[in-house]
Parts: sequence; structure tokens; C-alpha cells
Amino acid sequence: MCGIVGYVGPKQAQDVVIEGLRRLEYRGYDSAGVALVSDGRIAWAKKAGKLANLEKVLSESPLPGATTGIGHTRWATHGAPNDTNAHPHLGNDARVALVHNGIIENFAELRAEVEAAGHELRSETDTEIAAHLLESALSTGATLTGAMQQVCARLEGAFTLVAVDAEDPSRVVAARRNSPLVVGIGEGENFIGSDVAAFIEHTREAMELGQDQIVTITREGVEVIGFDGAPAEGTRYHVDWDLSAAEKGGFDWFMRKEIFEQPRAIADALLGRHDRSGRLQLDEVRISDDELREVDKIIVIACGTAFYAGLVAKYAIEHWTRIPCEVELAHEFRYRDPILTRSTLVVAISQSGETADTLMAIRHARQQRSKVLAICNTNGSTIPRESDAVIYTHAGPEIGVASTKGFITQMVAAYLLGLYLAQVRGTSYADEIARVVAELRDMPDHVQRILDGADDLYALAEELEGARSVLFLGRHVGFPIALEGALKLKELAYLHAEGFAAGELKHGPIALIEPGLPVFCVVPPRGRDQLHDKMVSAIQEIRARGARTIVLVEDDDPGIEEFADTIIRLPRVSTLLQPVAAVVPLQLFACELASRLGHDVDQPRNLAKSVTVE
Ligand code: G6P
Repeated sequence: MCGIVGYVGPKQAQDVVIEGLRRLEYRGYDSAGVALVSDGRIAWAKKAGKLANLEKVLSESPLPGATTGIGHTRWATHGAPNDTNAHPHLGNDARVALVHNGIIENFAELRAEVEAAGHELRSETDTEIAAHLLESALSTGATLTGAMQQVCARLEGAFTLVAVDAEDPSRVVAARRNSPLVVGIGEGENFIGSDVAAFIEHTREAMELGQDQIVTITREGVEVIGFDGAPAEGTRYHVDWDLSAAEKGGFDWFMRKEIFEQPRAIADALLGRHDRSGRLQLDEVRISDDELREVDKIIVIACGTAFYAGLVAKYAIEHWTRIPCEVELAHEFRYRDPILTRSTLVVAISQSGETADTLMAIRHARQQRSKVLAICNTNGSTIPRESDAVIYTHAGPEIGVASTKGFITQMVAAYLLGLYLAQVRGTSYADEIARVVAELRDMPDHVQRILDGADDLYALAEELEGARSVLFLGRHVGFPIALEGALKLKELAYLHAEGFAAGELKHGPIALIEPGLPVFCVVPPRGRDQLHDKMVSAIQEIRARGARTIVLVEDDDPGIEEFADTIIRLPRVSTLLQPVAAVVPLQLFACELASRLGHDVDQPRNLAKSVTVE
């Protein structure tokens, strides 16, 4: 995880770096730091806690003016989140300052080596060792770029490194292996960032680096080489979202803004998926139709909220394609020695495209010769780059740590994938597919109507402010939504919350029911009568034992009123698509409750947006 920034140009580097860190703070906020090259020395400041703490330090003891600098916002892996372990780290003679995102796996042996050579290491991090090694390489006469090359050859693991040399203010040098790094290309100035948010207010021209590459930025230009020193080229692209998309747009939290962006996000996820004749086309799918026809098993892998999108995907994909579909947590996947063949399609779902557990699972699947299709929100991120195909979700940047529009568009993309497979394999008729697509096109309006009623959810959050435990029940595709509703409360409100399959209730969870316990119940549409009626029975059972029932149910389903303490109305949609609507009230409720409890909704404690370590 961690956010990294680098700058060289005419502006005050400290301002550019701090502003960049502010936009990257979602990547980690255990500590923050900045290092500048000024008058042949490194000037630096770092502080545990959020960026605001660093800014306070900088206002009390300002650093000298400088036009070359780097910065870091940390999510701790090695070493506690304190001042000493904060980045940047300096070399033995404070000639080099360096920031790092990732994990250097062989740091213990390297540490022993430099300590034996008389270096004094101050922190417990794996990072500091790289600063010392860089400085040693510089002392043999290498440039910072050459020194970086020598050091990278010795490091194992995942890392993005960004460094400056006190004796060369003209350049910032960065390297990447298995961790994110993009370059921002300006006029007379250039930038480094973990993602484009770091420099979007200065330039929308970006360059993505390949694996095992080193980039040197100066005012005049950008030069890329491989770890082996051979000249290389990054891939240039234009960023088509602007600064305002990365800001809160009048909402108190990014998360709330992102919840309200969902109608647009769903519409964007559906854009351009049809040709003129009405046939579905997913143009980023670089797996041939023949190969897709040969698929005999699908395994969906993901973590966190994306995993729940995978659970929804299973119901839809199996129903429409008749291909067996498993769903597995990415971090469990490769360790159980899964059965993967050339005809297995692995679907990796990840908002960030950087989740290390998911990435490692993809690599394992590809080694076994399975094809991998990514469902991802972040253009140019590692997971789609390492997959055979990608369906981008087009939700726009998601800054709130708890995923909302990312999740809803993951479900939409999974539906599109299921329908596309059904089309290619002929397991559904064209008119059936068209009907579902038409229903998907109505979802933005349905979601908007739920959002228009947000005040009712906010009132409910006010009523339940004192709750110490909340349960969620669902059946069929409502079950993953129950899990997601519970996860949101855990993440944001730090409340005990559990999601259960309603059918499982009498096999154990019903023992938890006590008078006044709030239980959210997602009722399936009446189209599947048995499901609907069984859910209604479950609600009766818990109500009889004193639970406070909060029932999410279709608009015109009148029979439910007598069993519901609170009713949340959902639009009338088909069973498989109901999750797209049903999750929205649960998001609004969790956001509001956490906000009322005084928690930082966008940056919940102990969490990070993209988990780039296993
Ligand atoms: C972290 C985030 C979750 C997210 C999960 C997977 O745990 O806090 O909100 O669902 O990672 O992230 P991904 O980017 O792979 O979807």
C-alpha cells in the first residue's frame, strides 16, 4: 500500500508533494513525510498519523525552499506506525532520501550486511536498507539512476522506490517491481505518483511503467530503463477524469459522494457494450470466442467487498451459462492447490487492480495455463495488465476506503460477462439477453429513487445509534448482500455485525436473537415464490423472539407489513438483479451511522484502500 509522490520543476516541491499526498492519503495514513533537495543537502520532515500532523510540523519548523522533492503516506507493514519508521528514510550520510511502497523480502540479510559494514540503521523498516544501499552505490561514483539499478538488482519482493540525491537536485529516480508507479508529464516539470490523483491538478498526461523498470525524471524529460540498464519505454496515455472527480463535490465524505454517484457509475459501466444489432460486445475481452466456448469451469477470485460481488456473479453466471462457477477468496485460492486447466476461466475482481492477494492468485492461475479475465476499475493497474482480458467497470476514482460504486459496477460487469458468455455459447436466446440488458439499463433510475429516499435511512441510523450488534439476513443473491451490509458496518461503524443466509438461521444464528436486536432482512422478489415465502417465515421467526426487523422488500409487496418494524422499499426487478438495488440502503445506513458515531468514514481505522501486500 502507501502513497508515493515525486516532483522536479519550477514550483515549490513541498507544496506539490503535500498536495499529491493529500490525494493519495486513501492508500494509507499511518504516517507521512517529505524530503527536499536544497543547497546540496536533504531537508526532511516526517510524522506519525495523518498528513495533517506532518503539515503542523512543517508550519512550526518550515523546510527551506526547494524545487525537487519526494513524499510518502504510509500503511505500515514492517515496523510500528511511529515517527522513526515513517518515510522518507535516509542513507548513512543523509545524502539519499528514499520512499517505498511494498515489501523488500530479503531485507534481513541485506540489513545484516550493511550493519557489518558499519552503517547505523535507525528504523525497524525494510525500506531503510535500500537508502543505505543506494548511498553506498553513489559513493562509488554512480549517478542516482545507476545506483538505483545496482540496488534493484539486489532486492527481492514488491517495491516502488522513489529517491533523491542531495548532490543532484536535477533528478528524481523511481523504480518499480510488482507495485504501482505512474509518471505525470508536464511542461518543464515532471511528476511521480502511486496513481494519477497525485498530479492530476498539474497534468493529465501520464506514463505507465512496465515491470522491473527505472524512471528518471528531470525538468526536461523522462527516461526509462530496465533493471538491466537497457533503454525501455513507458506507455503514454491521457487521463480523462479531472480534479473535481477526485474531490468531494459538496458531500461530507467521499464515500457518501460515491454512493450518490452510483446511478452514473452503473450507466457508464453499461456504455458501449452493444453493437448496432443489439449483440453484446465487450471489446476489452482479448480471449477468442472459440476459447470461451471451451471453458468448462469458472473460478471467481477476489477479496473483501469484491468477493461478495463474486458471490453474486456465481448465481448469474451459472444460471445464464450453465458453466459451474466457484467463488474463492484470493488469499485462500493458490494455497489449496486448486484444480486449474486450460479450459478453466479465472475471473479476478478488484476495484483497485492492485490487491496483492488477487494478483498472486492470478499469477498462479496463469502458470497453470488457465485464462484470466479481470473485472477492474483502475485503468493501467497491475491486475488487468497481467490478465488475458479485462472488463473495466468505469466507476471513476473511488477514494472512500469502503467500496460502494466500485462494488455496484463490479456486479454490473459480472452480469455483462455472464450474458456475454451465454451469447457466445448459445445458452440463452438473444431476446432473453436483450431483456436483461434492458433491465440493467433501468437500474440507474431505480438506484436514484432509493437515493432520493436517503433521509429515511439517515433517520433509521439516528434511531439505531446505540445498537451494539446488528444482523443481516438474505437468501440466494440476497445472501452476499447481507454479508456486504454487515461488512460495511464492521468497517465503518466498528460494530459487531454478521450476515447470514436466512436458511441457516435455525441451524445456529437464531440463538443470537434477543429483544430489540436490529436485523436487516433482504426479501427476494416474489418471482421466486418459494424463496420469498421462506424469507418471510424467517422474519416471523426472529420477530417472535423480539428482534427489531428492518425489511428490504419490493415496492408492491404488501403482505410484509405486519412482520416489519421498518420497511425499506426496493424497486421491482428480477431476482438476479436485486442486489444492485438492495445494497444501496445498506451503504447509506452504514455511512450515516459511522458519521453519527464520529468515525472517519473515508479512512476507517486499521484499513487501507488497496492492500498491496499479501
Ligand atoms: C481492501 C478494502 C476493501 C476492498 C478490498 C479489495 O480490503 O478495504 O474495501 O473490498 O481491499 O479491494 P480491491 O481493490 O481488490 O477490490
